[in-house]
Amino acid sequence: MPNDSFIIVAIDGGAAAGKSSTSRGISERYCLMHVDTGSFYRATTLKLMGAGIAPEEGDALSKGLAALDLGTSVTGNAASITISNWTPDASIRSQKINENVSRYAALPSLREFLLKYQRSQADVAKANGFKGLVMEGRDIGSVIFPDADLRLFLVADPEKRAQRRAKEGIQDSIQARDRIDSSRKTAPLKCPEGATLLDTSDLSLDAVIDTVSKMIDKLIA
Ligand code: C5P
Repeated sequence: MPNDSFIIVAIDGGAAAGKSSTSRGISERYCLMHVDTGSFYRATTLKLMGAGIAPEEGDALSKGLAALDLGTSVTGNAASITISNWTPDASIRSQKINENVSRYAALPSLREFLLKYQRSQADVAKANGFKGLVMEGRDIGSVIFPDADLRLFLVADPEKRAQRRAKEGIQDSIQARDRIDSSRKTAPLKCPEGATLLDTSDLSLDAVIDTVSKMIDKLIA
């Protein structure tokens, strides 16, 4: 792959598997735009819950989604979703959202609503002069960018993941979310065929970033 081409790195995995820290590190090292799609599901969940819309298909959901005007703001290497000019803040990481987001994320209409928007982030990255995109989530390598240049699936021991969240001071429903995310019909959480599985349980963040960097170096060599 020539040095000046645009690369797409897809990083999927369960809750607290190390996706965000890894994606951030990689985005800085290679001048890639970092897109955290979990924040999209969190932000839309917050908006839908705020409008009193239950996590079920129907007219209320369709109308609720139609009322959401999506945009993107880029700060440093990170792209953030905006919804009708609201930029999500720490409120999307509250316990209430942790407990409910997977129920909304299982709705085919919500996933369909966010699909094009997620793909459009490649154009946002190009327009902002990035050399590529690193997008993290649950279905990036399987559904959003199945032809990504690099597709990774991160896993880690349940105790290690719980420790990571505790360190961040966040109360999270890690196992419950993974259970719902893995068993939903539309775009379930799973390692896509052909993706590289990386166990981060016993690796420091630097070691994970170095491992992924070696894969990217091979790609752009
Ligand atoms: O990545 P994060 O843990 O913040 O994601 C929050 C939730 O959003 C996940 O538990 C999952 O239900 C949903 N999600 C998803 N597909 C993605 C990213 C996140 O279903 N691509």
